[in-house]
Amino acid sequence: MNDILPEACATWRHLESAVREIAESYGYRELRLPILEHTELFRRSIGEVTDIVEKEMYSFEDRNGESLTLRPEATAGVVRAGITNGLLHNQRQKLWTRGPMFRHEKPQKGRYRQFHQFNVEALGYEGPDVDAELIVMSARIWRRLGISRLTLEINTLGMPVSRKRYRDRLVDYLSGVKSRLDQDSIRRLEQNPLRILDSKNPDMQGIIEAAPVMLDHLDTESAGHFDELKALLDAAGVAYRVNPRLVRGLDYYNRTVFEWVTDALGSQGAVCSGGRYDGLVEKLGGRPTPAIGWAMGMERLVALFEVCGGRTPAAGTDVYVAALGEGTLERAFALAETLRDAIDGIRVEVNLGGGSFKSQMKRADRSGAAFALVIGESELAGNRVGLKPLRSAEEQSDVAVDDLVRVLAEKTMKPAAGAAGSSK
Ligand code: HAM
Repeated sequence: MNDILPEACATWRHLESAVREIAESYGYRELRLPILEHTELFRRSIGEVTDIVEKEMYSFEDRNGESLTLRPEATAGVVRAGITNGLLHNQRQKLWTRGPMFRHEKPQKGRYRQFHQFNVEALGYEGPDVDAELIVMSARIWRRLGISRLTLEINTLGMPVSRKRYRDRLVDYLSGVKSRLDQDSIRRLEQNPLRILDSKNPDMQGIIEAAPVMLDHLDTESAGHFDELKALLDAAGVAYRVNPRLVRGLDYYNRTVFEWVTDALGSQGAVCSGGRYDGLVEKLGGRPTPAIGWAMGMERLVALFEVCGGRTPAAGTDVYVAALGEGTLERAFALAETLRDAIDGIRVEVNLGGGSFKSQMKRADRSGAAFALVIGESELAGNRVGLKPLRSAEEQSDVAVDDLVRVLAEKTMKPAAGAAGSSK
């Protein structure tokens, strides 16, 4: 679990607002959810025989003896909230949510125990148009942020009937090579054989390569859905690779699944992943409602943005107010408040704790401010302030207090509050 320090927060906020703006430009609306849910919700949604539920949840009993869990992902909570708040009664919903998720995984670069996701979920949409739109939307995010080095992998898991048929074929095949399976796979053979295809154990790769693939056992409806999705992606110019072994680590998926993966971040390559979960709303007590969504790992997005040379626009202090001498601090406070009132978004820092001219200028420099306002006793008497540019070779000038708002609005290129045409 990481502390995210101020400098990193600037990048996080830059990325978060880009992702949010794009999701909203496609009609997604924000939903804020609790971080704690009943453990049962995740057991039922994600599945009993998954790494998350078996090994990774932070679960505990509360004071009433109820088992609660720090959410390991957001989709189950979105569906629960949709049902309990009646959001799915004869309506479709496009929702986004974000925040911390918790999984007790083995920490390594790109894999943390508290991490952050940005999620989008479209509930009540049959697809494949919405499947394509969600993917096109993620591609727009990469373009906006200048992120390259991502490839899109897609697959289909079919409908429950064809999945069952495929599962039987897979179990037949795997049972035939049982003596060569690792412990994890033997355990999964009965309960969740599809997950064996996702094994990272190098000794298992030969067996996995030779396994039958879902794509050869698809029902016609899912095959049509998948073909249409591919055609829509082709038309939108979004390149993809069909990966028949992409199965995902959560049990609620059916039909379309996808992952954006990178080779730029070491072994934790999935930056954004998702798929359809047409059966989940009904399973959790709602009416049958088709649904699809994806989640982006923010830590991985930040890392990839940096690898791709992304820069966050600077958002430091604009003006540092230095006060020197009797009665100047009161004037400094008052002037700083006037500037904050008068100029939208201006960042003004008043020197706190006194100090010599030299030490105040040192702090001004360290604050990253573009200008220092120098208020001394003589300036106070003449109703003027010294304006000292800190990032250019320009000389210090003397500005009448009455002119200060106009001069600083111009110099910082920030609009004076209430100015005609100014917008937030
Ligand atoms: P997921 O693949 O488990 O899917 O997680 C989505 C993304 O979260 C991953 O692609 C990765 O970027 C990030 N992530 C997962 N675990 C960690 C970790 N331990 N540390 C850092 N980043 C991590 C889901 O959670 C689904 N709920 C996605 C979804 C939404 N499907 C439909 N709607």
